Amino acid sequence: MKRTHHCAQLSPADLDATVSLLGWVDTIRDQGGIIFVDLRDRKGVTQIKLEPHDNSTLAGQLKHLKTESVIGITGQVVRRPAGTENKSLPTGEVEVVASSLDIHNISETPPFPLDDIGGDKVNEDLRLTYRYLDLRRPKMRRNLQVRHKAAKSIRDYFDSQEFIEVETPALFKSTPEGAREYLVPSRIHPGQFYALSQSPQQFKQILMVAGVEKYFQIARCFRDEDLRADRQMEFTQVDVEASFVTREDIYALFEGMLKKLWKDVLGTDIPTPFPRMAFHDAMNRFGVDKPDVRFALELVDFSETFRNSAFKVFQATVAGGGVIKAINAKGLADLTQGELKNFEEIAKSLGAKGLAFIKVEGGEWKSPIVKFFSETEKAELTAKLGIAEGDIIFFAAAPWEKACAILGRLRLESAALLAKRGRMTIRHEDWKFLWVIDFPLMSHDEAENRYVATHHPFTAPVPEDAGLLDTNPKAVRGQHYDVVLNGMELGGGSIRIHQPALQKKVFEDVLKIPADVVESRFGYMLKAFTYGAPPHGGIAFGLDRMCALLCGTTSIRDVIAFPKTQKGQDLMAQSPTPVTERQLKELHIATVMPQ
Ligand code: AMO
Ligand code: AMP
Repeated sequence: MKRTHHCAQLSPADLDATVSLLGWVDTIRDQGGIIFVDLRDRKGVTQIKLEPHDNSTLAGQLKHLKTESVIGITGQVVRRPAGTENKSLPTGEVEVVASSLDIHNISETPPFPLDDIGGDKVNEDLRLTYRYLDLRRPKMRRNLQVRHKAAKSIRDYFDSQEFIEVETPALFKSTPEGAREYLVPSRIHPGQFYALSQSPQQFKQILMVAGVEKYFQIARCFRDEDLRADRQMEFTQVDVEASFVTREDIYALFEGMLKKLWKDVLGTDIPTPFPRMAFHDAMNRFGVDKPDVRFALELVDFSETFRNSAFKVFQATVAGGGVIKAINAKGLADLTQGELKNFEEIAKSLGAKGLAFIKVEGGEWKSPIVKFFSETEKAELTAKLGIAEGDIIFFAAAPWEKACAILGRLRLESAALLAKRGRMTIRHEDWKFLWVIDFPLMSHDEAENRYVATHHPFTAPVPEDAGLLDTNPKAVRGQHYDVVLNGMELGGGSIRIHQPALQKKVFEDVLKIPADVVESRFGYMLKAFTYGAPPHGGIAFGLDRMCALLCGTTSIRDVIAFPKTQKGQDLMAQSPTPVTERQLKELHIATVMPQ
């Protein structure tokens, strides 16, 4: 049997036609001896009516039929009786009265419901074990389609801008500067390893030296990171590099891509250009370098207010060079003990010694610390935080970065609780894109007492700051930029260093990588740069994260056909697995099991 139509196609225009449909049995209902089957294929659902009482073949077949079985039917299109139409289905005005049935495969009973609502309630591990069933759910099917559409839109866009897609190797060499890598043993070079590419960064820069000028790639990247909802060990980047560009060119290029993407996939016009925010302001006002600016709840600095405070914790923090910052979680004074405890734990996990707070209830400020506050201090808090009945104020007294980070997290937690209580609306389709710029080129790693590249070591300094590289590396701003959407870092990139001398200086003098190590890891790149490297820059963004946002899901696993679990396992195919002694021997590998 060949299908004549798909399952979202038939309408009253097809009445009386004889048709053949193929697909899966979505539901079976027995209504007084008449069997109704909703037949599903990749396009949709059509109702099939089977009348076995005067068709013994059909009657025999139907005894075995179960949901999710694969069947084909041939029959006649008829109008559904008045009152039984299904307005929510494109095929809801008709049904097919089957004259014959082919059973291709009887299905076992699925271990969980395959509709959107029922499927969402089951444990994700079960869904991942039976991913082939999970992907039959309408929502998951739609997610795969969105991803396909997104990739196509992106390819079309870059093609229209005269970029070419170039594939770069997955098997690269180990460069332990970035995230932790996956190593791949070489069979023919005993004791030597490849590393799976963390990103095409070095190759794309080499392509610029090669004169490609406009490169992009939808590239698979591998990082041995601790997995979270927005991280996978293998993920996909939309990776771009161009020669003779400024930061402004990259902003415009990517805004154009995202504008087209949102239009193509969601039909939404997103306003461009995106607002820009300096890294320092993002931290200072939102406590994070990827601010969710759909709501305010901003951090306010009170260091001056408490410089000479009678509350010693605050006074001593300011005297020690730290800051006092606060947020007003408006209307959240009814926080439960459990919620408050959770807030305290979050603050402590980020290095706070405690979490001072003030609740405003019954016209009173309730807090163990308020007795230390002067009238002036209280007046300044009220004025700057707009304190009113029902509010709760949280304080962080700590070095600037730590205070920002603590309140940044509590700001998000407060917003989530306010949204849950219906006191704040945070709509996922309120698309607040943002460029975060002016990152420091270097950050100081306290534990190792050395500078590390904030983004990566190839990022160029802002030209007017370059002179500070020797004297005050921390003050040098990098030509780095991140695209942030609703609290998620979608992508990041930079204008690169293209002068070999400057690149060598960053590696050796600022990052303190020994010259011989620089030579063995990056020597080829430094050499390439001596043969006419054009000024260049680029960006990469996470396709998985972007698709998650487009699909309105919080987990990137929902937009990856076969993701790994948080523990890095493939529950369906069951990996990782041990391998045979023989394989290990061939690869010159001995394993040492943890004790
Ligand atoms: P970066 O490391 O910031 O930059 O990565 C760019 C974007 O890739 C996505 N991403 C991830 N998505 C899912 N799982 C992960 N484990 C993961 N890690 C990163 C994020 C991130 O913003 N070569 C540079 C880019 C450049 O400078 O051009 C780079 O890789 O959305
Ligand atoms: P203490 O004087 O240490 O008992 O602290 C008084 C209050 O201030 C308690 O509610 C602590 O949780 C809080 N607190 C202590 N240190 C800090 C800090 N660094 N930032 C914010 N609150 C703090």
